[in-house]
Amino acid sequence: MTTPTPATPRAIPFIKGAPIIGNLLVFGRDSIGTIDRVWKERGDIFRIQLAGNRSFTIVSHPDLAHEALVDRKAILRRPADIEGGTLLTPMLGLSVLTTDGETWFTRRRMMQPIFHRQRIQAMGETMAAGGARMLARWEKLPDGAEVMLNDEMKLVTLDIINGTMFSSDILPEVDRIGNAVDVGLHYTQAIVRNPIRLPASWPTPGNRRFWAAKALLDDYLYRMIRERRASAEKKGDLLDMLLEARDEDTGKGMTDQEVRNEVATIYGAGHETTALALTWTWYALSQNPEALRKLQAEVDTVLKGRAPTFADLPSLPLTLATLEESLRLFPPVPFTARMAYAPLTLGEYALPQGAFVGIAINNIHRHPDFWEEPEAFKPERFLPENRARINRNAYIPFLTGPHVCIGNTFALMEGHLLLAMLAQRYEMALVPGQRIFKEQTITMRPKYGMRMELKRRKEMPSP
Ligand code: HEM
Repeated sequence: MTTPTPATPRAIPFIKGAPIIGNLLVFGRDSIGTIDRVWKERGDIFRIQLAGNRSFTIVSHPDLAHEALVDRKAILRRPADIEGGTLLTPMLGLSVLTTDGETWFTRRRMMQPIFHRQRIQAMGETMAAGGARMLARWEKLPDGAEVMLNDEMKLVTLDIINGTMFSSDILPEVDRIGNAVDVGLHYTQAIVRNPIRLPASWPTPGNRRFWAAKALLDDYLYRMIRERRASAEKKGDLLDMLLEARDEDTGKGMTDQEVRNEVATIYGAGHETTALALTWTWYALSQNPEALRKLQAEVDTVLKGRAPTFADLPSLPLTLATLEESLRLFPPVPFTARMAYAPLTLGEYALPQGAFVGIAINNIHRHPDFWEEPEAFKPERFLPENRARINRNAYIPFLTGPHVCIGNTFALMEGHLLLAMLAQRYEMALVPGQRIFKEQTITMRPKYGMRMELKRRKEMPSP
């Protein structure tokens, strides 16, 4: 399927780089900063040369992004069937996050019911229990202790995804499993940085590390899957649901390998993103004391010192708005990419078959035509009474179109609950003298970590 080419398509500004390496060096050093800078210099659509004759067309306008992700969804797809697949395919195999077209559709249709709001709500206690375990760990620390917040948030979200997936406690194994996931993500990051690298099958030190991490993860995941298949007990968790899922047309379930790929996907996609959302929220709050004070006032008034549960979430709208504003200014997934499977038009621009299109979520969320004071952290924008003013195309932390995040309800509920639990008991101050640098791997991480002083709140109301 192709779209008609406009009579006189407009030229897309082209950012040429050095011979052979193109703009790879600047891109590798700071891709988020580069995409932001070029957007401000050259506008809402531009094409940037990467290595050799490879280039990326980067879209920063909400309406063009919507057109790309919704209206042109049949043409602009994940590059799932070119050699090597997507960046995540080596780690995850073929799953709902690494495929497109028919394969993806069948899988998504099987998995959608698992993420229904009511099912996620039933996981509320598991989420709260993970939060309580984190608070119990922190209580053993002296007041004002320094923590690496991004690691702490990863620990709690990994604990929660494990509890909701396997109904088991991962803490005894968390270092091994967490490290394996990390090696996988770093491997992906290395591919982003340096697309001209040796094939995955060559025994380079980096590839060997990756194979070992993948083997360790596989061992853990297959063990959990086989044990569950062999047991008659139903736990009602994500793993049970994946094993029970059937294709609507054929009635067929998934093989162990297919389940493994989906479990690895939910594991990977389902914890680092939420951990980053919370890490950046605390960063924003540390820079905006007034926003923190209002958040604490809401939590204290509603909860009166008792621990929050899922039933409290509707009474904590500013807590949710704080998280949503953080997802705007610090989107955990700042960028996504698609490939043109046929020639197409986007707005007044024509793109050839084979073009790579990048959706700059991080720019869209700061577009001055759509956001007042785009760089300011203002949670009130997301309060129920103000939401109608938000243009839906300009806020896509979970993307839009068919690939909209399947775990968005899960992530918002988990983040909402954990933010309330933390804000009730702690305040955080950024340890002075550190550099906070946004690094884009697939997610947006603080490159050198985020060190925070953890201060117990003194004036919290008692239950
Ligand atoms: C704040 C947290 C999260 C953010 C910002 C986020 C963001 C995203 C984005 C932007 C995509 C689209 C990727 C693309 O097509 O290019 C996506 C897809 C996906 N996410 Fe999330 N996500 C979050 C949490 C979660 C959670 C908690 C889970 C699972 C429990 C999850 C599972 C998935 C899956 C399976 C997909 C693939 C959906 C498809 O293609 O059909 N995510 N997410």
